[in-house]
Amino acid sequence: MSFFRFTPAFANPQGSPIRELFPYLSRPGMISLAGGYPSPSLFDQEGLATAAAQAMTTGATALQYGATEGSPALREQLAAQCQARGIRCAASDVLVTTGSQQGFDLLLRVLVQPGDVVCVETPAYPATIAALRQAGARILSTPVDGDGLNVDALQVLLEELPAHERPRLLYTVPNFSNPCGTLLTQDRRTKLVQLALQYGFVVVEDDPYGELAFTDQRPAPVYAAAQAWLQAQGGEGENPVVYLSSLSKTVAPGLRVGWMVADPAVLRRCTVAKQTNDLCTSPLAQAVAASYLQSGRYAQAVAAACAEYRRRMQALTNGMKAKLGNLVQFVQPAGGMFVWLTFDKGIDPQKLFDAAVAANVIFVPGKAFYADNADLHSMRLSFAAPDVVQIEQAVERLAQAFAQAR
Ligand SMILES: Cc1ncc(COP(=O)(O)O)c(C=O)c1O
Repeated sequence: MSFFRFTPAFANPQGSPIRELFPYLSRPGMISLAGGYPSPSLFDQEGLATAAAQAMTTGATALQYGATEGSPALREQLAAQCQARGIRCAASDVLVTTGSQQGFDLLLRVLVQPGDVVCVETPAYPATIAALRQAGARILSTPVDGDGLNVDALQVLLEELPAHERPRLLYTVPNFSNPCGTLLTQDRRTKLVQLALQYGFVVVEDDPYGELAFTDQRPAPVYAAAQAWLQAQGGEGENPVVYLSSLSKTVAPGLRVGWMVADPAVLRRCTVAKQTNDLCTSPLAQAVAASYLQSGRYAQAVAAACAEYRRRMQALTNGMKAKLGNLVQFVQPAGGMFVWLTFDKGIDPQKLFDAAVAANVIFVPGKAFYADNADLHSMRLSFAAPDVVQIEQAVERLAQAFAQAR
């Protein structure tokens, strides 16, 4: 019996299933297709160094506590980012968060009580599942297909639920999802908004990857679809969507700068929740981010990242088509960092993982992305961190692992 009496959410904590793979990563010669880390070679170190020097010229501001909502200069820049993506918003509609991860945590504190039902597109980003478990939410898995969240299946689910079981929240990554790499169609975005208004749930639109598009065909955010829908209805009504985004995948995760755009009532409560969480996002990091975005280098850096990630994605998917053939199924992503792979039920997933580790290649087993560890015959592959040569080697090694596990 421990001296410490932990809360139910932390009585038997499970760490992140992805971080548990870290010990394998230090093995000599290991090629990792596991993490969702951006490629360090794509960090604009020169531009960020200039921005950091600039940040230090702002007198003591960057070294002092700042407003919980975020610095005015950064909120201005982030609102401009949102406008470029199709969202109508002003700086006052933006709450700067310490990564988009914090934005989700704040929302859970403000909107979800233990026992509340939350729909999660599944397979899902593991930290979302973990945060929901910690909040005591009841997770309702909602299926996805090659076009993202399956809103027709969601509608059937919602129709069948008794009123008291209806979700408070639905979580989705509509752009180049983690882990599936899929892009939600425009029709589905509009239908999702309609369902949210009809059934009274908040849509959490998590969008860290939307800028990493390999083509220029990218629908506006679900948040913007809701604005358009509300306008077409002639009223100003409250937007049921909360938009979360981040500079982690496009500039650098070390900045820990993300943001939220939401209805003023939601934003105000999240701001109060953040006051007791970290007071404010590092003003120094915010000053660097604002100065970087003002410098005009962002667009060029993102374009370079898209071109490189596209090359890496093609090396991975072409290699898998050639070496793994019909042993595996996947949808070629049109952006982002991930490919979701499903494989033959006749292959033992643990044997496959062990054979892969022995061959010095690692991936995230699919069960990490399910609240109930359900689907074992799948995996997430990230093409972001290894270069093309390493990806080609990784595919050779995966092919060996499949051959051994069969
Ligand atoms: C879907 C998704 N949401 C949120 C995050 C966390 O992003 P941030 O670094 O902005 O907290 C990640 C990071 O991998 C992610 O994949």
